[in-house]
Amino acid sequence: MKYFIQTFGCQMNLADSERIAAYYQARGFKPAASIEEADEIVINTCVVRQQAEDRIYGLVRNIRQRCKANQPRIVITGCLVGAASREPTGMLLKKMKKRLTEVDEFLPIEEVGFSYPQIRVDKTRAWVPVSNGCNNFCTYCIVPFSRGQEISRPFDEIIDEVKDLAARGYKEITFLGQNVNSYGADLIKSKIKDQRSKFYTLSNGRRVKPVMVKHLGKKRIPTLFPYLLEEICKIAKIQKVSFLSANPWDFSDKLIEVIVKNPKIDRHIHLPVQSGDDEILRRMNRWYTASQYLNLIKKIKSKIPNVTFGTDIIVGFPKETKKAFENTVKLCKKVGFRVAYIAKYSPRPGTAADKAFEDNVSYKEKTCRFHILDQLINK
Ligand code: SAH
Ligand code: SF4
Ligand code: F3S
Repeated sequence: MKYFIQTFGCQMNLADSERIAAYYQARGFKPAASIEEADEIVINTCVVRQQAEDRIYGLVRNIRQRCKANQPRIVITGCLVGAASREPTGMLLKKMKKRLTEVDEFLPIEEVGFSYPQIRVDKTRAWVPVSNGCNNFCTYCIVPFSRGQEISRPFDEIIDEVKDLAARGYKEITFLGQNVNSYGADLIKSKIKDQRSKFYTLSNGRRVKPVMVKHLGKKRIPTLFPYLLEEICKIAKIQKVSFLSANPWDFSDKLIEVIVKNPKIDRHIHLPVQSGDDEILRRMNRWYTASQYLNLIKKIKSKIPNVTFGTDIIVGFPKETKKAFENTVKLCKKVGFRVAYIAKYSPRPGTAADKAFEDNVSYKEKTCRFHILDQLINK
């Protein structure tokens, strides 16, 4: 029996697909070179924008047409299944099943687990998820619904995985998380060893003080992310460590200090800003202002020579006026991003923005704003 995996979406999905491959191979399946050759096709889905979702429906139809003689089993997993099964009214699940009658199985990604070593395509660079899910609820974003609450993997499990990768010749590691730099907040809550002094004991016996960071501009949550980076940098054969996606509100001074001290940590930092306009940021529930973001960039630049930045930006968020968009352009000019992933706003079911705001910027205007930023940053 042969399997074929088609992956959509972000690096997290690419990493999940490596686990899905392991899950299939553990059950005796062999990889197929193409869709036509496969007995079972797994579609690992993304629903972050309508366009990503539409591609899933298109592909399912296409498979049924292309594989007339040998009809494969079609399995859908990833964020579409996550979002549909977590939606409380059950409407989304019903709608999905109705639109996808040709699908044989809806597989929640949680069922795949971490029990088999991933089948990695690259032999020197590895994705390593450190947490899954997100607690931030930016108003436009479906990820907290599609992946659920943020859950961090155990500290030792990650260290052991990277040690094993190093022993097998891997040199570059990219840590993945939707809010990668809040890693460990949930671990600390359940397992602070010394309640009085609030110290956390790592598996190697090292006692660390969880790093308090500004969270959503109000509360403060402790994280272990800087320590995770520090411990990974100690593994001799690992030469480079990167991480995705860091959020501005969890970018602590301790994290900056750890980057400064460890030359193995990538000097390119991806720090999604989404907008440069305070009113839009507030309505996106991003909880920092343009000037707070710029101050953070300034601080990082002053401490880390040669640092470069990447970002994510949404254009055409509801009520993004020409002036609001100009504020984003201004911020981008000030930062001088090396790269930007620019997205046209797309309302997502169940999100606060979809419920509260009308999608009132025309597609033409979104496209125009997209090109202005793309020309400015990526060309
Ligand atoms: N956790 C990451 C991003 C995850 S989603 C972060 O907080 O930055 C990846 C990107 O998709 C987002 O950064 C955003 O730019 C874009 N995106 C998310 N929801 C969107 C929507 N409804 N419409 C358009 N773009 C969206
Ligand atoms: Fe979505 Fe915001 Fe979480 Fe990123 S931080 S995954 S944009 S809710
Ligand atoms: Fe990633 Fe898309 Fe899911 S961006 S987290 S695969 S909705």
